[in-house]
Amino acid sequence: MPDVMALHARCVQDFRLPPNTGCCPVSELITIPTESPETVQCGADSRREDPSRAAVVPPMPPMASDRIGGIQMVWALRRNAYSAFPPRCLDEPVVELRVAGRHIVLASSPDAIRHIMITHADDYQRLALGRRVLGPIVGRGLLVSEGESWRRQRRAMAPAFTPRNVPVMAQHIIRCTEVACDRLDRSRGTPVNLLHELQILSLEIAATSLFSLEASTFGAELRKMVSGYMDTIGRLYPSDILLPDGVPTLLRARRALFRRRWTRLIHSIIEMRAGRARADVPRDLFDLLREAHESDREDLLADEVSTMIVAGHETTALTLFWMCTLLAKAPQWQTAVAEEASGVDLSAEGAATSLPKLTITRAVVEETLRLYSPAFMTGRFAKRTREICGTRIAKGSIVLIPYWLLHRNPRWWPNSAAFDPSRFLSGAEPDRFTYLPFGVGRHVCIGAQLAMSEAILAIARLLQKFTIAMTGDRPVLPVGTLSTRPDHAPAFVLQAREAALFHPSGFPPPVLPVVQPLLQI
Ligand code: HEM
Repeated sequence: MPDVMALHARCVQDFRLPPNTGCCPVSELITIPTESPETVQCGADSRREDPSRAAVVPPMPPMASDRIGGIQMVWALRRNAYSAFPPRCLDEPVVELRVAGRHIVLASSPDAIRHIMITHADDYQRLALGRRVLGPIVGRGLLVSEGESWRRQRRAMAPAFTPRNVPVMAQHIIRCTEVACDRLDRSRGTPVNLLHELQILSLEIAATSLFSLEASTFGAELRKMVSGYMDTIGRLYPSDILLPDGVPTLLRARRALFRRRWTRLIHSIIEMRAGRARADVPRDLFDLLREAHESDREDLLADEVSTMIVAGHETTALTLFWMCTLLAKAPQWQTAVAEEASGVDLSAEGAATSLPKLTITRAVVEETLRLYSPAFMTGRFAKRTREICGTRIAKGSIVLIPYWLLHRNPRWWPNSAAFDPSRFLSGAEPDRFTYLPFGVGRHVCIGAQLAMSEAILAIARLLQKFTIAMTGDRPVLPVGTLSTRPDHAPAFVLQAREAALFHPSGFPPPVLPVVQPLLQI
């Protein structure tokens, strides 16, 4: 099947996606070697040293004590996953804790992750607690489904995420970024809540590129509900781990109430979109989902729409936000990205062609995702008793995989706490299982290409136009609840970048936004 192989070659070349990512029809057919490959110390020796780019070490909350017990860890998870795990997780491939008779296993080594996600994936399944926490917002959507329903749901959506859609997605990304730039231009020189601005931008990109919708009508309410949920009842509570489904608690009642309000909002978005269906426009993800679920209850369509809107914008908004905090502290890298961006065509029409040329920008995005993976942890339930890296894991154990610990382990990442994008510029790819911002195995992120394209193009365009600085000295700390959020939204000040950097190569300024449904499915 030469054509399909060529398709996946593009995924690997342009997006550096490993096999089996579900990124295109062929990826699932490629098998992954099950033997342990040599772990590459990513960029350790071959790193390009550039003294002018002195590394910035962003602040982190303190880790838990090595003596932390299971129940304390479960409580700490509710507050912040970044201070819930003991440092011994960095040395031991598997750490086991007990909470009220349950085994909780922390697996943060490449070999343990390979075992759980690839070589013994059939022995593990998604956690019921994931459904308890995410269910009110994504229902039975792809983010929490399992088995045959998951397979059907994933197949239905896959065509919307193939590499051949990148050029149209790039157009949406640039058009939405232009609107954001215009908005930011109006507050130039004054403190601005960039987190909020980037959330609006990402929501607009997800709504237009996936559902041909303008988010302006529902965006504010949707953002308010998502943030409200994540900051309160969307956290991981001890009862999520300790109590089975069916035990009524106040928390569960509050989540059920939220779900009713949320479903009403999503149904109104669906009605808006369905009312716009026209025969003369290309199909988009909404059409795919509607066809796939027409025999199901209408609820599943609503669940999938919620899943894609929430998963599709929260994570990328946070990636852009963390990137801005890092670049505000590392002006050399900010200039490097701006210079690179100034040499390429970032118009809506040219952006897709420019994407592979933005290598420094890509490295900055990759390093941001290493330090602040928005999806910082995942979990699985052990269906059978197994041995992981010499430790017996009992059937029924809850296995947590904190990707953020993997990404900050000095064994795989020299100078691991430092923001140093040059480690992704050395040409040495990190070992596949030491860098997993988009997960791995059958549930790997379906939106990885969209997310990478969005993060690269949006930051390139923003830095083509502005310099970004952060006001105040208060450290911005990551808080791991449902995603990696900041403990507060710092104020940023944007200034117009030197005109010389804008379009030295004579590219026309990007066109003003026109919202069109463009996905070619
Ligand atoms: C920087 C941005 C993003 C990051 C870091 C990210 C990360 C992840 C990770 C780690 C997983 C795997 C979870 C697991 O193994 O349990 C995942 C799954 C998923 N992501 Fe993303 N994601 C991002 C953007 C997106 C976007 C843009 C979309 C959709 C438009 C999306 C939709 C999904 C869905 C539906 C799944 C579940 C896939 C399945 O189970 O088959 N994500 N994501």
